[in-house]
Amino acid sequence: MQRIRSRLEEVGSSLSICCDLSTIRSSPTINLAFSFYCSVIATPSRPQTIKFLKTSTSQAWIDQALANLDEVMLDHSHCERKAAGIAIKLMFLYPGDVALVEALTDIAQEELSHFKQVNQWLARRGVALRSLAAGPYGAKLRKHVRPNDPERKLDLLLVSALIEARSHERLGLLGAHCPDPELAKFYRSLMASEARHYGAYWVLATNEFGTDVVMPRLEELAIAESEILATLHPAPRVHS
Ligand SMILES: [Fe+2]
Ligand SMILES: [Fe+2]
Repeated sequence: MQRIRSRLEEVGSSLSICCDLSTIRSSPTINLAFSFYCSVIATPSRPQTIKFLKTSTSQAWIDQALANLDEVMLDHSHCERKAAGIAIKLMFLYPGDVALVEALTDIAQEELSHFKQVNQWLARRGVALRSLAAGPYGAKLRKHVRPNDPERKLDLLLVSALIEARSHERLGLLGAHCPDPELAKFYRSLMASEARHYGAYWVLATNEFGTDVVMPRLEELAIAESEILATLHPAPRVHS
């Protein structure tokens, strides 16, 4: 697993290039054969393009986020805690899946570390922790998860992968556009982790179900994900 982590770290920290991580094998239970590409065009006028996301985030979201940075940061705090919760929930659902438990233990720990870091930024900016109404993104995505296994497990892994991919893209946009250079640097520092999380969920799905099953379903879910975001939600959120 350490080898997986370090290889994906390389991908996440090399976002200006196209990376192909194929034929990586790290443990008897995880055959890491996958391609993972991040193509980033980090100029103010052009959005990032992340493989498997059907549409890039709009300039309207960037404008909304920058105009409401404290609220987006508070939502980001909730997102990190929820991401840890999703990983833990999956371990409750599939406690005998050793590869899944191993990968998601790492992810849950890392998401909680992000949660702590975002909360430190909130404190620094004088923003109190409080509840915040969630946007419709997560609930609408969850409606696409089929109710019974094995389809449920596949969908949960792929929905998680898509959320991580979108988080990766949007944190990257904040990293590119945030006027506070220190905060921008912080957002960029999180990008590599979210890319690794995306890759880890994708690997878990393809190892269990195979690419012939995964890719058509990923296509369907990626289209749904982009349709959910096609209309900018009025409340400023990471996934508005
Ligand atoms: Fe995170
Ligand atoms: Fe993540």
